[in-house]
Amino acid sequence: LLSEALEELNQAADKKDVEKVRVKYLGKKGPITEVLRGMGKLSAEERPKVGQAANDVRGEIQEKLDEKNQSLEAEELNKQLAGETIDVTLPGDTVKQGSRHPLTAVVEEIEDIFIGLGFSVTEGPEIETDYYNFEALNLPKEHPARDMQDSFFITEDLLLRTQTSPVQARTMEKHEGRGPVKIICPGKVYRRDDDDATHSHQFMQIEGLYVDKNIRMSDLKGILEAFVKKYFGEERTIRLRPSFFPFTEPSVEVDVTCGICGGSGCRMCKQSGWIEVLGAGMVHPKVLEMSGFDPEEYSGFAFGMGVERFALLKYGIDDIRHFYTNDMRFLNQWKQI
Ligand code: PHE
Repeated sequence: LLSEALEELNQAADKKDVEKVRVKYLGKKGPITEVLRGMGKLSAEERPKVGQAANDVRGEIQEKLDEKNQSLEAEELNKQLAGETIDVTLPGDTVKQGSRHPLTAVVEEIEDIFIGLGFSVTEGPEIETDYYNFEALNLPKEHPARDMQDSFFITEDLLLRTQTSPVQARTMEKHEGRGPVKIICPGKVYRRDDDDATHSHQFMQIEGLYVDKNIRMSDLKGILEAFVKKYFGEERTIRLRPSFFPFTEPSVEVDVTCGICGGSGCRMCKQSGWIEVLGAGMVHPKVLEMSGFDPEEYSGFAFGMGVERFALLKYGIDDIRHFYTNDMRFLNQWKQI
């Protein structure tokens, strides 16, 4: 009986099986109970022996049952633990962290400087009308200076803006003839250019406009000089050269002293010591007038700079195409700025 019970217990796969074995051998209808019940019929001599034997067998079975239950429980716990194991020494998944695009970073840096000089930041549409992109800037249809900016026309009257200057006209209109207007406007512009190391059919500009009573050329020079010193470094200076834009009179080209040779002449500045960085001038009276400002009462200056150029010069990048080709080896270098 004992070996039979132990054999069955061995086969038991779970606690339910163990319980079945218990009921079968130790239960009320089991053989041990039966033996104990039949004790009354035995002689006084046999009784203690049989009783002892039955109790021993019961004790043994009970003990094995408990053991089996314990080992089943342990097995189950081990299984559960194995399933829940976390290997804290495994290397984690690296979360790739992005960074600001260098052009965004440069725009924000330039914005900060001009905000510090009292300018506010505004924006205008990239799809522009012929009126704002050209006419309101003193560039009537058939004006030869339109050729300075080969354009992407969408319809006869709509084009991708070739410059951020249309925002000058849009902003002045909103002010309804009353100054001051003191804004900068960053944004994308488009020209029909063949892409190479220094040209791109799409690039970024930052426009500046300051219109008020008694604004003079010296204000333009002072603001631009302060800006260049903040952006490139205190040791840098600027010079103005006469130039032409239809919407400014007089117009100037602004050069900054070379940062590589310190102005003494090198390959970077083509031996001149100076690098051209932006176009500017006093807002043409006709432009003021078309946008609702009385040129007898108000005057102003405007400037426009190429963002890529400012980034190239400050960070020593040799090819404008790096900004648009999304090469991670290039982009990953900008985490610090
Ligand atoms: N819009 C001119 C350009 O794209 C730059 C400019 C802006 C010049 C404002 C003068 C005043 O070349």
